[in-house]
Amino acid sequence: MPQLSRTGVSLDEELLKVFDQLIAKRGYANRSEAFRDLIREALLADQVGSNNPVVGTLTLVYDHHVPNLAQKLTEVQHAAGAMVLAATHVHLDHHYCLEVIIMKGRGKSLQEVADRMLALRGVELGKLVLTTSGASLKHVGHTH
Ligand code: NI
Repeated sequence: MPQLSRTGVSLDEELLKVFDQLIAKRGYANRSEAFRDLIREALLADQVGSNNPVVGTLTLVYDHHVPNLAQKLTEVQHAAGAMVLAATHVHLDHHYCLEVIIMKGRGKSLQEVADRMLALRGVELGKLVLTTSGASLKHVGHTH
């Protein structure tokens, strides 16, 4: 467990009031954990925007009856080569498929691959989540 340091933050009263309402809504037990999560989020955003490798999961929901769509999605993944680590496919119902594609590479490259798939006609929903292995965030590690 990392050693803890205490720090004080001066905040506008109104801002703190609104912040307390937000963290209560999100279920935080105290401000410290909420501050830690905000700091981690900022560090993660910095990491994702940097040139360092990150991991990404792309979740897609698409209509497999749209002509050539499944084939086009496969082609984009093959073109991405080693960036694609794994893909899982679930047949949701008669029309819709869910696909989760796990990738590794620079944030910008992963976003480009995701955008290529998201732009295809028949892809109804999609979201790319970028994160890191966690090693780079270790210095703000969870305390629970
Ligand atoms: Ni399917």
